[in-house]
Amino acid sequence: MMGLSQPGVAIVTGANRGIGRAIATRLASAGSRVVLTARDAVFLKEVAEAIRGAGGAAIEVAGDLRNPDFPARIVDAVLQSYGRIDILVNNAGATKRGRFLALTRKIGKTSSVPGCESSP
Ligand SMILES: NC(=O)c1ccc[n+]([C@@H]2O[C@H](COP(=O)([O-])OP(=O)(O)OC[C@H]3O[C@@H](n4cnc5c(N)ncnc54)[C@H](OP(=O)(O)O)[C@@H]3O)[C@@H](O)[C@H]2O)c1
Repeated sequence: MMGLSQPGVAIVTGANRGIGRAIATRLASAGSRVVLTARDAVFLKEVAEAIRGAGGAAIEVAGDLRNPDFPARIVDAVLQSYGRIDILVNNAGATKRGRFLALTRKIGKTSSVPGCESSP
């Protein structure tokens, strides 16, 4: 399976911090060429530079996955830079942490994997 044992070209969403950053960094250190995405371009660049500084290959594509056009932009950028896509780590997401009984439907609607919002 591609990934750690067999490097490839990997898109990692939500890669500018947290779990996504850790996954992207690990994949890159194992030889994959990684494509980092998230909304905050400053943090994204910082992660890409850290990976490149350690000898890895990374490009960053900043944008909001709730924008229906963004996935196609990511694919275009990957194909232009690396010519192929082997791995997708669909990690981006947002959660609200708090007491369960304090969660409302409104919170439920805004805390989700982008594109997978709960119904009202
Ligand atoms: N940490 C936990 O204990 C835990 C437990 C269960 C599941 N998870 C899930 O695991 C994933 C990562 O968790 P984490 O703790 O590393 O989360 P995190 O630190 O909050 O990071 C979320 C990532 O997703 C990006 N993101 C959020 N909304 C986005 C959007 N609309 N478009 C593009 N990128 C977006 C964020 O960057 P920007 O804000 O710059 O866009 C960030 O890079 C999430 O899906 C989370 O729900 C986490």
